[in-house]
Amino acid sequence: MTLTRVEILPGSQALELDWTDGGHARFHAIWLRDNALDAETRSPANGQRLITVLDIPKDNTLSDAVITDDGGLRIIIAPELKELQFSGDWLKRHIYDLEPPQTLGHLDPTVDIWNCRLTNQFPTGNWEDIRQSKPALRNWLADIQKYGVALLTGLPTTSGAVCDVAEIFGYVRETNYGRWFEVRSEVNPSNLAYTNLGLQAHTDNPYRDPVPTLQLLACLENSVEGGDSIVVDGFAAALRLKSEYPEAFDILSQYRADFEYAGASDVQLRARKPMIELAPDGEITGIRFNNRSTAPLTHVPFEKMEAYYDAYRRFAVLVEDEQMQVGFRLSPGELFIVDNTRVMHARKAFSGTGTRWLQGCYADKDGLLSKLRGLEKQPDH
Ligand code: OGA
Ligand code: ZN
Repeated sequence: MTLTRVEILPGSQALELDWTDGGHARFHAIWLRDNALDAETRSPANGQRLITVLDIPKDNTLSDAVITDDGGLRIIIAPELKELQFSGDWLKRHIYDLEPPQTLGHLDPTVDIWNCRLTNQFPTGNWEDIRQSKPALRNWLADIQKYGVALLTGLPTTSGAVCDVAEIFGYVRETNYGRWFEVRSEVNPSNLAYTNLGLQAHTDNPYRDPVPTLQLLACLENSVEGGDSIVVDGFAAALRLKSEYPEAFDILSQYRADFEYAGASDVQLRARKPMIELAPDGEITGIRFNNRSTAPLTHVPFEKMEAYYDAYRRFAVLVEDEQMQVGFRLSPGELFIVDNTRVMHARKAFSGTGTRWLQGCYADKDGLLSKLRGLEKQPDH
């Protein structure tokens, strides 16, 4: 995308650009100086910035700005009198002259929220396909980014295969439960997940800071009655809460809950984070919801405690609303992955006859998103 016009704005501290597609945006001299692409500013070898903000003079002004023959921008910035060049494409990709989001509780525009209707188009990949085909892997990872959940079929029912899936896009996050953990009914379980009890929809391990951002659960055997899986989009539930009970949304995002897990004596995990986490600009960035590991709440003021419980209850009612849920039964060789900062998972109770054996592991979204971006840069063949 090439530029058609540049104008230095009054005061010379910023300029305005027009592109051939009719788009326009302003950029500051200080911003352009800091983001210079020349070899003294950024290492040509690794792209990292070589200067600090203190290497830039405080008062930057534009002493010249022209469109180059190839539709890029050339400027001279005083007082250094440094000449800088940017392509029209690069500037277009880095526009920040946008309407800031006005509302508290907006979402990253690249995510798609869902409810029970996702059942008919549940994002699904196949193990052999994603191993052998980069476009298949890219599509599967893109679905996880967009919906926060996906199924995978055709996985071998061998112990530890769940980790091979994590390793296809990133790294297993080892915890006190091990590199991977067995999810089956046990005598003296260290976690209620290792029983035949039903589990309310939850995010895993809210007692960790940072929380594992991905969870994978693979099925090796499933011949019990019951034990069905359910997933719920926590972002969709949070938005519903916000529109139906705005004060409930506010209180769950404004006060921190306490989460705790004490296993063996050397495992004393604790975190204090809101059930609905907002970024400073109001974007919903995380959900933490887990009845089993919510500790006594001690960071909600006395005057707010009843309202807090009321909000917590309203959120739970929405999470348990079938309209919000997608249910399925895992068969041996199937796995599901959730964005553990967004999508909650539940399981129905199951009976004593037969065997239900899952293996789970954690991983992190940064690796998955990095892999996805890498695949998106590559051509399809
Ligand atoms: C878990 C869990 C669900 C299941 O192990 O974190 O939620 O289906 N298990 O057993
Ligand atoms: Zn869980």
